[in-house]
Amino acid sequence: MLELGVCYYPEQWPKEMWADDARKMAALGLTWVRIAEFTWSLVEPSEGEFDWDWLDQAVDTLGKAGLQVVMCTPTAAPPKWLVDKHPEILPVDEHGNVRKFGARRHYCFSSDIYHEHAVRITKAFANRYGKNEFVHAWQVDNEYGDHNTIYSYSDVAQTAFQKWLSARYEAIDCLNEAWGTRFWGMTYQSFSQIELPNNLVEEPSPTHLLDFYRFSSDQVVSFNKMQVDLLRKLSPGRPITHNFMGHNTDFDHYAVGKDIDFASWDSYPMGALVYAGLDDEEKAERLRTGIPDQPAFNNDLYRQVGQGKAWIMEQQPGPVNWAKHNQSPQDGMTRLWTWLAYAHGVDVVCYFRWRQSKFAQEQFHAGLLLPNNEPDQGFLEVEQVVRESALLPETGQRQQSEVALVLDYPSRWAAHALPQGEDYSSSRVAMDWYVAFSQRGIDVDIVGPHSDLEHYKLVVVPDMIIDNSAFVDKLEESSAKVYLGARTGSKTKDMHIPTKLPPGNFTRLIDVKVERVESLPPYNKDRVELDGILGDLGNWREHIVSDETVLATFQSEFRQGSPALVGNDKCWYGATHFTPSLLQEVVGKLTSWADVFASPNVATNVRVTRRENLKFAFNFSHKPEQLDLPTETQFLVGGMELAPYDVAIWQI
Ligand code: GAL
Repeated sequence: MLELGVCYYPEQWPKEMWADDARKMAALGLTWVRIAEFTWSLVEPSEGEFDWDWLDQAVDTLGKAGLQVVMCTPTAAPPKWLVDKHPEILPVDEHGNVRKFGARRHYCFSSDIYHEHAVRITKAFANRYGKNEFVHAWQVDNEYGDHNTIYSYSDVAQTAFQKWLSARYEAIDCLNEAWGTRFWGMTYQSFSQIELPNNLVEEPSPTHLLDFYRFSSDQVVSFNKMQVDLLRKLSPGRPITHNFMGHNTDFDHYAVGKDIDFASWDSYPMGALVYAGLDDEEKAERLRTGIPDQPAFNNDLYRQVGQGKAWIMEQQPGPVNWAKHNQSPQDGMTRLWTWLAYAHGVDVVCYFRWRQSKFAQEQFHAGLLLPNNEPDQGFLEVEQVVRESALLPETGQRQQSEVALVLDYPSRWAAHALPQGEDYSSSRVAMDWYVAFSQRGIDVDIVGPHSDLEHYKLVVVPDMIIDNSAFVDKLEESSAKVYLGARTGSKTKDMHIPTKLPPGNFTRLIDVKVERVESLPPYNKDRVELDGILGDLGNWREHIVSDETVLATFQSEFRQGSPALVGNDKCWYGATHFTPSLLQEVVGKLTSWADVFASPNVATNVRVTRRENLKFAFNFSHKPEQLDLPTETQFLVGGMELAPYDVAIWQI
């Protein structure tokens, strides 16, 4: 059963409004309310002096109206008195500038002093509300990584990095070997000499960078775990989450996911469109719908991160305030995104925010209510979702898909550490694959190197740069067919070229040797031919030697006819990242090879997906679309003709 909630800021509104707000939320059909993530300075206005009365009263008012409270730890917003007393808790940017107080997320994950205070305030919150009858779940902190806050180049980060390196390598000679410091005479004699990889004359060793990224990710994981451990002890039986941002991959979301009870993510498709790497024409077409597969991908990703349990903690219900441009979604999109999330296995969708703020940074950000307390468009759409929800039968979790798409965070960092081409984007590569499948009505699970691969028919490894023998074992053991994309297995864990050349251990699946790689500018004229179809080459080309069957070739004056795609019965290797139109063809070929089910005849801007016994169709286009289903199909919501931005749901 879909559940709904909202993010609420009682501290921003007169107390006299709270009871009415709570009553209206419950009457709307919301059952969850998330509060308090930025309230540290209001709860502890000076060190050791607490003012809980207002928050007690807010929790009580919301709870008595029948709402379940998600209480947040407020560590995303350290108070001014703390910063003044310990300025060394502030993060430092890559140019060496201290990032000051005055907004949020102004802390360095490596500060021990900050950790002490984070423990103190987490304990205080947990002691106060851990057993409160109205508090049903916890959110730790808020959006790790928001505004580029995973990397800090502070003195305390440097000391912590040295300690981390000494634990990883034990002897400085091992570090010198891994980082290849002989290369430019960069040799170190002790761990205490090592600095952070910013403000250098030229680029640092990629291993130095990758280790800094790994270290920074570990700092987030341990900061999060410290809070989770406290909450588990002091607030038994209340599940714990963190609200992730899908586009920030600077830390390992699976690693944080392992420590929490469910994952949640913050869904802002309008802002995501503005920053997406699409051309202007496509962006114009999707201006007010966003990219259909961007929220779907993240719903699938966080289902994996949350080990089967995912929420949307913040769903935009109108324009946001923080992108370069902030267009409104089409009327209907809030409803569509809500059902899309549910279809992809999300159990609770909370909207950001209850009422649009009249002051401070986010005045332009829509809420469910206007600043004058009248319903805004989002409110009306939530009413519709609630009405529709009552028409659906009990539904279980989403079934496992037949296709798995691998997302590996350390490989993402490896691509940053040594991109070899300024427009190389692993997230674009992954999204292109996801889109190619979903345009054919094929459900995909996003998986990590840790995931069980047993029951898949097809596993796509788009660009797992870091070679991983244990993962290759799993691929060998699974009966799944495998697709390996360019760059897979191209670096060891130390960011070296594997001795037997890429794809390293993946050669256990396929006979391929990558002898040369090229990154290509957008004006390159090289093409690829697959089954008589010619398509543009993207920005990456590999020169491979292989005895396997050639399935596609490069067409260019340079090494005309060399293999672009080769395969055997178990595995295919692509020596390029196919551009979307050709990738469609590759996916068509792959899915018939792996015998994967595809929903028939899905229109380009319609998405069809399944959650257990329910099927869903979503129309992202500006015109009506006809579904191609048997006439006797019994619709629970909508019908055979989908209006623009409309949703249909039927039982199977
Ligand atoms: C999120 C953040 C919220 C709010 C929202 C506005 O990134 O978690 O606190 O700022 O953006 O869209």
